[in-house]
Amino acid sequence: EAELYSEYKGVYVPKLLHPPESLKFLEEFTFRHDDIIVVTYPKSGTTWMQEIVPLIQSEGDLTPVVSIPNWDRMPWLEEHRSIVLNLDQRPSPRMFASHFHYSMMPESYFRAKPKVIYVMRSPKDVFTSSFHYYGMASYLVNPGTTDEFLEKFLNGKVMFGSWFDHVKGWLNAEDKDRVMYISYEEMILDLNDSVSRIACFMGKSLSEEVTKKIADHCTFKNMKQNKMSNYSLVPEEFMDQKKSEFLRKGITGDWKNLFTEAQIEKFDAVYEEKMKGVNFKFLWD
Ligand code: PPS
Repeated sequence: EAELYSEYKGVYVPKLLHPPESLKFLEEFTFRHDDIIVVTYPKSGTTWMQEIVPLIQSEGDLTPVVSIPNWDRMPWLEEHRSIVLNLDQRPSPRMFASHFHYSMMPESYFRAKPKVIYVMRSPKDVFTSSFHYYGMASYLVNPGTTDEFLEKFLNGKVMFGSWFDHVKGWLNAEDKDRVMYISYEEMILDLNDSVSRIACFMGKSLSEEVTKKIADHCTFKNMKQNKMSNYSLVPEEFMDQKKSEFLRKGITGDWKNLFTEAQIEKFDAVYEEKMKGVNFKFLWD
């Protein structure tokens, strides 16, 4: 693990994507009040939001999402590419993604108070999606068996650390009026309504027709066809989509096809312990 991950503020980050200079870049980054940042624990709906948010901003004009790869149209601030993207030249409102925990955010974030869209997903589905992803992405430590990977996941010995700490940290964020909480499950249940709520948070008023156009474009089936969003531009030695596609299933509850009874019991026990006292109505409870 020491080969592929480094520890930053107590959390594992993949070295290849986040060399020291890119972490330093974010430490010194100057946020603007009107920046929009989609924050997620990995495999919770980042790519989906990298499609939805730019389309809301462009009011349904598809040009940005069919001509710019998701990692450039809504770059991860902590990723090495951010250094070369001239982000301070971009017009407001700038749109970014991040996998950082609340406690990892740099000083400027707390001063500028940009808008955050925090996307959560059932941790069992995050585990399942991650298990397949770690098996196909060469920059991550191979997951091993489901038992082995479960052990690591529950102990936060995976990229971006503990799911529990990530979610609890962001749920306890100060300035909650600047944070929108939304779940993958809500987006699956009603994408049209989700798009319209996200637009509202972004201060955009969209017609019903444009809202519907965006929701239609952002279905799993349609996004899978978009080569600017389906990771087909990434070389195979980095992500082997013959092993598992990046846009893999796009459903809720796929964990039921992976977990054994014993694993469910273990997961539930840890969940209950770690989430004690958290006052939030999750859709997966
Ligand atoms: S990453 O690596 O953190 O950027 O991954 P992330 O994009 O957060 O999560 C990938 C999972 O999101 C699913 N996905 C979608 N589901 C439904 N509809 C749409 N449009 C969509 N786009 C991405 C993707 O399929 C991964 O989930 P799984 O369960 O593996 O299919």
